[in-house]
Amino acid sequence: LYVDKGNHRHFMLKEIYEQPEVVGHTLGAFVDLTTGRTRLPASASIDFSTVGRMALSACGTGYYAALVGRYYFERYARIACDLDVASEFRYRESPLDDVDLALFVSQSGETADTLASLRHAKAEGVDTAAIVNVDESTIAREAAHVLPTLAGPEIGVASTKAFTCQLMALAALAIRAGVAKGRISPAQELELTRTLQEAPRLVNEAIKLESQIEQLAREMATKSHALFLGRGFSFPLAMEGALKLKEISYIHAEGYAAGELKHGPIALIDDTMPVVVIAPHDRSFEKTASNVQEVAARGGKIILLTDARGAAARIVDEAYTIVLPEMPEILTPIVYAIPLQLLAYHTAVQMGTDVDQPRNLAKSVTVE
Ligand code: G6P
Repeated sequence: LYVDKGNHRHFMLKEIYEQPEVVGHTLGAFVDLTTGRTRLPASASIDFSTVGRMALSACGTGYYAALVGRYYFERYARIACDLDVASEFRYRESPLDDVDLALFVSQSGETADTLASLRHAKAEGVDTAAIVNVDESTIAREAAHVLPTLAGPEIGVASTKAFTCQLMALAALAIRAGVAKGRISPAQELELTRTLQEAPRLVNEAIKLESQIEQLAREMATKSHALFLGRGFSFPLAMEGALKLKEISYIHAEGYAAGELKHGPIALIDDTMPVVVIAPHDRSFEKTASNVQEVAARGGKIILLTDARGAAARIVDEAYTIVLPEMPEILTPIVYAIPLQLLAYHTAVQMGTDVDQPRNLAKSVTVE
């Protein structure tokens, strides 16, 4: 397999730019774009009407996708979700008797812990499904139901397009599950899938923020630490934003649920600490806003990712604000991932690290 960088300096940037297209392709695997109805690919036959509880598991970026997935499945289908990193799931000896479906998320389909967790679930007699990007991988071969992401080959070690495609698959699956469980009416299904079809355009809009984010990255590159905060659908994004930054720029970064700020990380805040806040104007906004004010009161440097309504709320006097388009809540994880990826990328470029092959990391971790 030969993939080249085209006109891009790094695979990571090329893969960031591919997202409008591949997110759209992935949507097409789970939604019939002519009728607007959700569907499953031929490789899967899950009857969500009988699923009351799910166990989700993955590693790295896939784990944060699964965390968004939990929010989606619980919100749209009222399916309770357990969630573990795969290295814990396989040994935790959690009783799986009331788990109807174990869902694994993996770009490569070869991660040792995720594969072992899949085998563990099968051995316990649980039905298994896997969201995978490589369809001839071991996980794809062994899972009972295969849910492909169509991101194409991902070469950069730091996952970008696989992540947003995983989110798209999870969003569509949660809608499908909601319909199957009678939680989403046919009319609501159409409205939600119409919303998902807006993703490629909105992702493209987010990519256009690149030059603004590049400026911000010059400042970020002078820092040794950063904090990422978000609530609700944006909480997993805070974790993923911190992971991206640490993976490729080696800046120490932590992602936190905004509401947990006062239980620890607030102690780290002084006037040198950049705090990236993911705060679309959704149902969590007011609460996140008050956390941001707590940061500002302690001199923290706020980088606010929000939309026009969030910016107009002027929650703090001083913030570096990046304004994204307004969108329904289900899309925010997918679209807000883009500025986080670009921030990590341009910070790493500023610092001169090896963006596509960061030290000590592997694209696929096939040993325990
Ligand atoms: C490694 C990669 C990450 C990836 C994780 C899980 O740590 O560097 O980018 O998220 O493995 O990999 P998987 O292929 O199972 O999604």
